Amino acid sequence: MKSEQLRQLFLYFFEEKEHTIVESSSLIPHGDPTLLLTSAGMVQFKPYFTGEETPSSKRLVSCQKCFRTTDIETVGDSAHLTFFEMLGNFSVGDYFKKEAVDWGWEFVTRRLKLDIDKLWITIYLNDDEAFDIWRSIGIPAERILRYGEKENFWGPAGDSGPCGPCSEIHYDFGESIGCGRKDCAPDCDCGRFYEIWNLVFVQYFQDKEGKRTPLTRPSIDTGMGLERTAAVMQGVSNVYETDLFKPMMDKMTQITGVRYGEAEDTDKALRITIEHGRGITFLIADGVLPSNEGRGYVLRRLLRRAVLFGKRLGLSKPFLTELAEVTVNKMGDIYPELKRKSTFILEVIEAEETRFDETINSGLEMLDEIIGATQKRDKSNIIAAEAFKLYDTYGFPVEMTSEIARQQGFSVDIEGFAGEMEKQRNKSREAHRFKTQKSVTNNGMALEATTFNGYDCLEQQAVIRDIVGGEGGGIVLDKTPFYAEKGGQTGDIGVVEGANGVFNVTDTVYLNPRVTLHRGRVTQGKLDIGETVKARVDKENRDATTRNHTATHLLQAALRKTLGEHVQQHGSVVESRRLRFDFSHLKAMTESQIKQVEKEVNAKIRKNLSVVPQNTSYKEALAGGATALFGEKYGEEVRLLKIGEPVVSAELCGGTHVKATGELGFFHIVSEGSIGAGLRRIEAVSGADAEQAIEDRLIEMAIASGEMKKELAAERKKLAALEKKLSQMEAVALLAQAKQVKDVLLLVARVGKTNPDNLRQMADYLRDKLGSAIIVLGTVHQGKPFFLSAVTEDLVKKGYKAGDIIKRIAGIAGGGGGGKAALAQGGGKDIKKLEEALKAVEAMI
Ligand code: SER
Repeated sequence: MKSEQLRQLFLYFFEEKEHTIVESSSLIPHGDPTLLLTSAGMVQFKPYFTGEETPSSKRLVSCQKCFRTTDIETVGDSAHLTFFEMLGNFSVGDYFKKEAVDWGWEFVTRRLKLDIDKLWITIYLNDDEAFDIWRSIGIPAERILRYGEKENFWGPAGDSGPCGPCSEIHYDFGESIGCGRKDCAPDCDCGRFYEIWNLVFVQYFQDKEGKRTPLTRPSIDTGMGLERTAAVMQGVSNVYETDLFKPMMDKMTQITGVRYGEAEDTDKALRITIEHGRGITFLIADGVLPSNEGRGYVLRRLLRRAVLFGKRLGLSKPFLTELAEVTVNKMGDIYPELKRKSTFILEVIEAEETRFDETINSGLEMLDEIIGATQKRDKSNIIAAEAFKLYDTYGFPVEMTSEIARQQGFSVDIEGFAGEMEKQRNKSREAHRFKTQKSVTNNGMALEATTFNGYDCLEQQAVIRDIVGGEGGGIVLDKTPFYAEKGGQTGDIGVVEGANGVFNVTDTVYLNPRVTLHRGRVTQGKLDIGETVKARVDKENRDATTRNHTATHLLQAALRKTLGEHVQQHGSVVESRRLRFDFSHLKAMTESQIKQVEKEVNAKIRKNLSVVPQNTSYKEALAGGATALFGEKYGEEVRLLKIGEPVVSAELCGGTHVKATGELGFFHIVSEGSIGAGLRRIEAVSGADAEQAIEDRLIEMAIASGEMKKELAAERKKLAALEKKLSQMEAVALLAQAKQVKDVLLLVARVGKTNPDNLRQMADYLRDKLGSAIIVLGTVHQGKPFFLSAVTEDLVKKGYKAGDIIKRIAGIAGGGGGGKAALAQGGGKDIKKLEEALKAVEAMI
């Protein structure tokens, strides 16, 4: 049975049992700060089990993408994976143990037709109820084993949440696999027994302190490992030998030339590289980017680990993009996000792998030295500070350092390392001291949800429900037109007016997910709980914010159109005076891309497209191609915001928006820059602020041009001085060109481009030097021929007239001129005639 069939079979089996099929959620848990990554099928349903939210159906079934960081180091054995798919059926306060067990058994024995003799059951120590149910379907008592908390109590996922005793179905591969011990049992991790299905009887809520309280509605959460069950169905005892990994394994053996099955250590390296190659592909597709913290660090660690194991297989070149490509091809039909983002995924991997590859060898050398030094000290424990230095200099994850060290018989002081890490964090914390958030406490009343009416009105009567004291305190109303900060849009400002006082609202936030808090202070008189007041939003501020919010949607759509579908929102801030949009994109945008995005948005503004909110189901919205945010929590009912028809932008959004895009007036990008690996930030403005931004730009340009003019004038002066100098030098050189024609010393010359003043000075100089001479100089001035003639007094007396000479030669060049007998000047029109004109002088002697 192929893994595709197994997925379908599971989903359809439970659909027959009236379960609703739910899509896998992202690997980034929606709005669950207690969890780094989605680690089980139940994660997206946590609020259903606790009763915070109500699902549309009490019976649900899914095939969920999961990621378990706890298993990173066990990856490479026969069963453990970081990324895996979990099949699960869920009851939200509907059926309980009996049906869960009955249906589980029906599925494995009748649908999968597993050999009953190979199946073992485990239950929680004192769970006699479960024991009786398993017995009632015919499982012999000796096949039902009782284990404690570690094996048979599951949850919570994260530091708090639903949990309960569980019962597992194990498959026995037989004595030939694993440790070979006679008493080998399902709790042995030698590989003989595969836990294929875990049925959790969700009965408790466990808080952060570990205290368990019974849930009012017991529920069911089950998880069947797709890879493991596929292995069983495909008759192999190792998940890496299933069809799920085949193309990746083929690729890896092809790249390395290492055959699978040749040696245990190369087999393990092959398994680790393909597992991590697949894992990072899925992480990036869901919006995780390499970094030194949180999810980004998990991704980085996985990638680096894969590179190191690649090295062990003899690879010296980057190879992970090839594995990612195969993963996209293998899994892209089931998880289309892989296909949609494939270019981006490969770019991220390539950049990160190349960067790491460049430092890895130096890192390994450093590690060798560290190990050598440790050995010299006769110790086997590597000093934490040294492991930290390796991390800090070469980005070696400590887990990797410790793994390599372990293979050589050394260990790393992990706790000490954590201390070093903390020290550095403190240092950088001091470097950028952030404002701490003020916490708000109300006076303990359980408040009802605030009704929000601010989509349509900005002013309304309301009743004060509570007054929250302390710094950052404020007013809680029964209903309000004030928008509370959410989805990047900042909270409204305005006033709340009572009969005897005025409260100035400086910010609006959520006190809890349902109650709105109007923050600010009383500026006049006093207000009381229970009093009817008028709540009035500052319209100008709201309108500007609203414009910027719609502009943000148009911006996102334009970015995707211009840069590609990989553009994913990573955060936004929408304020009245500006908007900020963070998104995934690897390179800096070019000037022309920025212009294009701006043009694209402005074109949509000019079209005055209608902006229409619509309430719909999450599923339908996504099916229609709407953009949702990673890490954002959405209920079943969502607000879908569509711009234009045909649709230009469709985003899930609870924010306030204009009715038609024309209201934005104008859009302008103020800046674009990097905020981390693969992340860019745009700051932009719309409406009057955009107009102002352009005006500011024009003023700046005018100032700049004024300054340029001044500079230009100074430059011109310098140039004139230079020209003058040049003319002087040229004049000296000309002296030698004077020649005797009859009884007259004649100097006729064409000189380099210069101005009449210089020419005159040249003539003065030559006249002084030659004593008795006729001088005729020609040049090009302002694109035209220009002539100057000087005749010394003695020759004037003999009848030579500079004026006549000029009249004649200027005439030849198509112009005219004249002057005194001793000095004259004139201009022509035709540069081509300049030489001819000068030549004519000699004949006049
Ligand atoms: N949440 C349980 C597990 O992850 C069953 O799905 O094993």
